[in-house]
Amino acid sequence: MGDWRRAAVAAAMLCGAAGSAAAQEPTAVLGHEIAVRACASCHAVEPGAANDIAPPFFEIANDPERTRAFLIGWLMNPHPPMPDLSLTNAEIAALVAYLDSLKAR
Ligand code: HEC
Repeated sequence: MGDWRRAAVAAAMLCGAAGSAAAQEPTAVLGHEIAVRACASCHAVEPGAANDIAPPFFEIANDPERTRAFLIGWLMNPHPPMPDLSLTNAEIAALVAYLDSLKAR
């Protein structure tokens, strides 16, 4: 576990559900922390934001074709141009929970 991951776990435990308005599940809060550190250089991580580098998370979360199973599979084995970030199963579960929390309801 890298230092930022330890920090993310600690932050998620300290902040609990208060971390972000969009991510209220503790797992989703952790996923948000990981996304800010590991994904935000390419993806717009926050709901409503966008950039030209990669599809925004809000769009990914609200595309019915990108199912939970697809997202898990993608994160276990991403294709270029996205790099393989060697995520652990726990990190993938947290990221998918964060993406889930971005679904427009
Ligand atoms: C170095 C830039 C970069 C980083 C860092 C990055 N991505 Fe990506 N990601 C991309 C690009 C570019 C695509 C578009 C790939 C395509 O459509 O062919 C993509 C696509 C995706 C997709 C959707 C694939 C699809 O076709 O529907 C998901 C989900 C995703 N990224 C999640 C993540 C997550 C979660 C992280 C952080 C753990 C992350 N990415 C980090 C560049 C990046």
